[in-house]
Amino acid sequence: MTEQRYFHAQWSSRMAFILAASGSAIGLGNIWKFPYLAGENGGGAFVLVYLLCVAAIGIPIMMAETLLGRRGRQSPINTMLTLAEEAKASPDWHYAGWLGVISGFLILSYYSVIAGWATAYIFKINSALFEHINAAGSTRLFNEFKSSPVFVGLWHTLFMAATTLIASRGVSGGLERTTRFMMPALLLMLVALDFYAMNSGGFGQGVAFLFNPDFSKLTGAGVLAAMGQAFFSLGLGMGSIMVYGSYLPSHVSIARSTLVVAGADTAVALMAGLAIFPLVFANGLEPSMGPGLIFQTLPIAFGQMSGGWLFGMVFFSLVFFAAITSAVALIEPAVAFMTENLRLSRADAAIYSGIGCWFLGLASVFSFNIWSDVQMFGKTPFELVDMLTAEFMLPVGGVMVAVFAGWVMRREIAEQELELTDRRQFEIWYFLTRYVAPAGVAIIFLDAVGVL
Ligand code: TRP
Repeated sequence: MTEQRYFHAQWSSRMAFILAASGSAIGLGNIWKFPYLAGENGGGAFVLVYLLCVAAIGIPIMMAETLLGRRGRQSPINTMLTLAEEAKASPDWHYAGWLGVISGFLILSYYSVIAGWATAYIFKINSALFEHINAAGSTRLFNEFKSSPVFVGLWHTLFMAATTLIASRGVSGGLERTTRFMMPALLLMLVALDFYAMNSGGFGQGVAFLFNPDFSKLTGAGVLAAMGQAFFSLGLGMGSIMVYGSYLPSHVSIARSTLVVAGADTAVALMAGLAIFPLVFANGLEPSMGPGLIFQTLPIAFGQMSGGWLFGMVFFSLVFFAAITSAVALIEPAVAFMTENLRLSRADAAIYSGIGCWFLGLASVFSFNIWSDVQMFGKTPFELVDMLTAEFMLPVGGVMVAVFAGWVMRREIAEQELELTDRRQFEIWYFLTRYVAPAGVAIIFLDAVGVL
């Protein structure tokens, strides 16, 4: 019966869904954000909490979000309306969809700025300035770059324009093809960088930093950041995966597909960490230097390798592709909603959303230069938007998804959509979704604000 209800085109196969969902999951979150958050929060203990959150909270919610999408077959807002009606629950559930559209907008606004940095580095790395560069030089070049509102703004504009263009063309074609070659290539480059790191002289220290948990370094805020990062990296809690689920043919196993995606996402993050921290220690840099971490460490490696400029160009190009497939996922809930409810063409919906994000993104562009002193609660606009979304809006959206799938939707429907033939597996998912995920998020919230 789900067959009769879909309004969108569908993926061509299970592989197409896996590719698209990994395209959404794997992005700046893995390569840029995971390393710098791990660095700021003391390493091993943060990584451990992150992995736990992925396994016990992230993966069950990912399955829940995908299954709601496939059951509802529309944009998140309308999917929640339809499913609430089916479950005879309050139509207020559609506010979860709205929360998602707004989170996506906010995230994309700054995501595009950082993606702009990475895009700029495709071309910068090719300059003689980076040859045999040391840590001080690479830091100086990065600081010079980010302090120019015009350059950073320009790259942000270009990245947003590219995102809008792809989003205007719909889900299947371009995205599927891009992801198909981008993913394996990115993995290969990371393996190469990991090998380079093994010989950098800092490998032992880097591995110890990432995998030796020192719980004295982990604060309540660090635990919250780890959980937020699990949502962010898997791309949960705002309807991206819900929309992608809505294009998923009904015979495909949601459980197996999401496990593949979550596994790939986690592997890429760990591989990025393993490439970066050895360089940090070998060059006497600070792990806790923040959002500039990969832009200050990786160029040192590229500058010292022979032919490193080419390697660096390819690497940052792949980061660009990884970022753009995520950016398209971030804008998709808004585009899907506008095409359904405002009867806009896909192209118009994409253009309006794109312009909105671009404008909002200027606040993040300026956070690194002319507005670096404009602070609220001691945070720049970029930091504020980042924390508000990753550490609050996504977990709240994710819990709403879990509660809906675990408590509101009829159990038979969840069972039917998940199609886990093994009863025990279903029971595990159901338990994690009903109890562990909501309670885990609640406990981490309370801990971070100091109530526990
Ligand atoms: N997961 C992506 C990354 O790691 C970003 C992303 C895509 C995202 N879709 C999302 C983050 C939905 C939160 C919610 O770069």
